[in-house]
Amino acid sequence: MKTEICKCLSEIVSEVSAEEFMKLVEIPPEEKLGDYALPCFSLAKMMRKNPAVIAQDIAKALEEKKGSLGIDKIECVGAYCNIFLNRKTYVEKCIQKLKADNLGVAKTGQDKTICIDYSSPNIAKNFHVGHLRTTVIGNSLYKIYDKLGYGVVRINHLGDWGTQFGKLIVAYKRWSSKEQVEKDGIEELMRIYVKFNDESENDEKLIEEAREWFVKMEHNDAEAIEIWKWFKEISMVEFERVYKMLGISFDSYLGESFYRDLVPELVEELISKNLLTESNGAKVIDLAEYDMPPCLILKSDGGSIYHSRDIAAILYRKKNYSFEKCLYVTGLEQSLHFKQIFKAIEVMGYDWADGLMHIPYGLVSLDGAKLSTRGGNIIYAEDILKEAIERASNAINEKNPDLADKETVAKMVGVGAVIFHDLFNQRIKNVEFSWNEVLSFEGTTGPYAQYTYARAKSILRKAKEDIFKGEINYDALADDVTYALLKCLNGYEDAIVSAAEKNEPSVVARYIISLATAFNKFYHEAPILQADEETKIARLYVTNLVQTVLKEASGLLGMECPEEM
Ligand code: ARG
Repeated sequence: MKTEICKCLSEIVSEVSAEEFMKLVEIPPEEKLGDYALPCFSLAKMMRKNPAVIAQDIAKALEEKKGSLGIDKIECVGAYCNIFLNRKTYVEKCIQKLKADNLGVAKTGQDKTICIDYSSPNIAKNFHVGHLRTTVIGNSLYKIYDKLGYGVVRINHLGDWGTQFGKLIVAYKRWSSKEQVEKDGIEELMRIYVKFNDESENDEKLIEEAREWFVKMEHNDAEAIEIWKWFKEISMVEFERVYKMLGISFDSYLGESFYRDLVPELVEELISKNLLTESNGAKVIDLAEYDMPPCLILKSDGGSIYHSRDIAAILYRKKNYSFEKCLYVTGLEQSLHFKQIFKAIEVMGYDWADGLMHIPYGLVSLDGAKLSTRGGNIIYAEDILKEAIERASNAINEKNPDLADKETVAKMVGVGAVIFHDLFNQRIKNVEFSWNEVLSFEGTTGPYAQYTYARAKSILRKAKEDIFKGEINYDALADDVTYALLKCLNGYEDAIVSAAEKNEPSVVARYIISLATAFNKFYHEAPILQADEETKIARLYVTNLVQTVLKEASGLLGMECPEEM
């Protein structure tokens, strides 16, 4: 309806296009100010007329087309032209839209490919809460783009190459054993890595040995490669456990070790383009012109580095997936790294460099204390998820001990709570992790949304076959709370589109809360099962739409919804 109205507005004011009106027309903060409002300030500047007069003129012209646009009345308040829609028409259109394919969400991404590089943990290091954030944000972005019809390539750019593996091999040989690593997994690898760092402070020889082992790795020495591969397997088992808990999978696990073989080719290209310069024995791309430190390509020993492997990865992905966009979900602290490598692609002459985007996020702290990867207070993502499930399980035993399949529900609630909490605020904000807040059944939490979904499902179960009986009388849905609920339902597509535009799952999370809140208000104020037959059927129909959208929207965050709670 907004599109139609804006088309008509651009006919009235020919200087302004319908698209511009689409941006100009807003949703007023209060119900009593109508469904849409057109502020006339910017028009006034353009037309050199008093904004209130313009509002009056537009209102008069609109008045004539009222009927065909589904408008009930138009009111001018100062410089605003407030538009009240015909509720019955609106409700009907809204329901028709949601009944359409894909819940009425246009598949604008068809024939386009997006690569999302996320999670990307480091082999032999713990999967910490920071990695949990990139995993959860990246997965949600994947679901959002997928919903819009994009082809999405989910890439786990494993941190599986680097000098640290030389250190690890030395540490393993000195202070660990096959049995010990097999038994304790990453924990053991972390332990000996920390020990190496401590011991090597007073022992130069250790550093030298580690360097030698890494050189062996770079030269594909059989023993070195075998140990490295095994460390990788050990780590993957642990990562996969976390992914399974989160219900997450990837299309590609090609990590840094894969791209190191493509670096020589990259170096050739850089030389031929005259972009490689020498700096203290290393090879770099000079980025001084762009106010950036040089981008390291080859270390002085000729080995590749995080930067060059990443640049090689970009070229590989472009060639293999011909992406329109390639997103990198990592912590904010890697901003400079991505600025450098994106700039490198640009100076290499690739005009598609603007499709590369860093999607940063803030830090996580646990009940006030910053979570770190080194030192004593390591927080494993897996432990957080396990604890969340356990706490959810306790809550269920307390509140609803007879619930069927409690274990599955506890998992959905615990994991869902953590995911939702992570995604509710803008990703760039730091996350304060407090158990009470995460698992609360009230407020802006995952369990609140899940609980609302379960409530809708319970109503529908009680109603049984009544749901789809007969025609819907749209007039029965025109009261204030139901109308507000339908308006919220109608905002589903906008929420998804805006979340994709900003690469911001929080838009969907907030949408879920507003829908749940609108539904709970409706539930309390508009009796469903006790209403007269016609109203009951109409309200049940809406309830069914709400549960469908709530479940699907939760799915876009990666959160599951139990049928009963
Ligand atoms: N492994 C890195 C880390 O844990 C993240 C890698 C992100 N992806 C990339 N292509 N650089 O910090």
